[in-house]
Amino acid sequence: MALWGGRFEENVAEATQEFGASLPVDRALYRQDIAGSIAHATMLAQQGIITSDDAAAIERGLRDIERDIDAGNFTFDINDEDIHMSIEAELTRRIGGAGARLHTGRSRNDQVATDTRLAAKALAKELMEANLTLRKTLVEAAHNAGDTVLPGMTHLQHAQPVLFAHHLLAYAWMFARDFGRLEAAFDAADASPLGAAALAGTSYPLDREATAWTLGFSRVIENSMDAVSDRDFLLDLEYACSVMAVHLSRLSEEIVLWSSQEFGFITLSDAFSTGSSIMPQKKNPDFAELIRGKTGRVVGDLVQLLVTVKGLPLAYNKDLQEDKEGALDAAHTLISCLNVMKGMVGTWTVNAGRMRQVMARGHLAATDVADYLAKRGMPFREAHAVVGHLVLEAEHRGVDISELPFEVFREASDLIDSDITDALDIDAVVAARTTRGGTAPSAVEVQFARVEEGLVNDEAALAELTPVVEMGAL
Ligand code: ARG
Repeated sequence: MALWGGRFEENVAEATQEFGASLPVDRALYRQDIAGSIAHATMLAQQGIITSDDAAAIERGLRDIERDIDAGNFTFDINDEDIHMSIEAELTRRIGGAGARLHTGRSRNDQVATDTRLAAKALAKELMEANLTLRKTLVEAAHNAGDTVLPGMTHLQHAQPVLFAHHLLAYAWMFARDFGRLEAAFDAADASPLGAAALAGTSYPLDREATAWTLGFSRVIENSMDAVSDRDFLLDLEYACSVMAVHLSRLSEEIVLWSSQEFGFITLSDAFSTGSSIMPQKKNPDFAELIRGKTGRVVGDLVQLLVTVKGLPLAYNKDLQEDKEGALDAAHTLISCLNVMKGMVGTWTVNAGRMRQVMARGHLAATDVADYLAKRGMPFREAHAVVGHLVLEAEHRGVDISELPFEVFREASDLIDSDITDALDIDAVVAARTTRGGTAPSAVEVQFARVEEGLVNDEAALAELTPVVEMGAL
């Protein structure tokens, strides 16, 4: 008979036993569950609800169980349905009567919400660490890129030349915003539901603040019904994961393009490439593709939870049991994606010469020729048309605009002097974009300082987070 066996005359059908179980998923939360139970039992004793001998026996028993699970010496029984029942049943087997008093003034509804919040905090923290590591690698790669220039693109067509460092820092900024979303997700999870019991609170004189502080929560949830039914914190975490996955996916797409024969901008290290079982020459960017592919699953996890909670009346409904699988999947997937991306970026070779070579085509300086004319008094719209004709002429001749003879420029407008060559030089074009946030080396220097300031601040913020119950080995 199950723990609730009292009011039942028959056991649950075998098929539904397995169907209803969440143990295969929530066993990953054993450390959180044990921490929650120890905090609860200690508080029960402090409040005189159970004896301190019972609380001590409970704590000892639970720590024993934790050691056994950590060491892989624990056999889970699917008949226990979930991690809460599994650990409580084992505790009672091990220590007898005291174990059976643990669940006083508590429900699995506040218990599972507590465990899941603790897990969300631990995962958010792990994600923040991986996020910081990737950002540092990106910034380092940007530093290493020096004055390397590549064709900046819009619509995947050559647009204007930019520093490769500038391009990489754009990703560093995306991941910096992701860090902020993770902080917000951490904060959303950082409130204790323990003491809400099934949904309405309890008649025992529980000290909710005491368990909250013991578990490292920074506040308690003010409404017991909200406490057991809120899963916003998981949505926040999965949203943060989804946006970060989308950023990783966009970078992956660039890596796939850049490492192709057509682009040839980077060469991935062998350690982050694969070959083909039939084509001996192949070197494939499998891992970038896989990150791009896994993004679909992570976004799917978010959508799944949104749909799961959308029709639920208050308070707890068993549907909520479907919350953890996707959240754990999203977080674990993201952590591995961040680590693999870090490895890829940290070991690629940048082919600056090839980047330079492809810029000989594409009329990347066209905007600057128009700006040249506009700065000499021609209305920009008119200048745009003049340069459009120059581009057309270059296309007819099969050359880049920068290769047109001076006479052709002169014919197009007598505002053009021999110093037009400055407007046509790729490095000069880059160096001219000195606006804040622009791609000129001088502006990128400023940007580096800001990005690095963000890294320092986020590292400090991470160190100051309230302590978390780290995820166990399962
Ligand atoms: N296994 C359940 C879950 O993950 C725990 C809470 C169950 N509560 C209940 N009243 N059935 O959501």
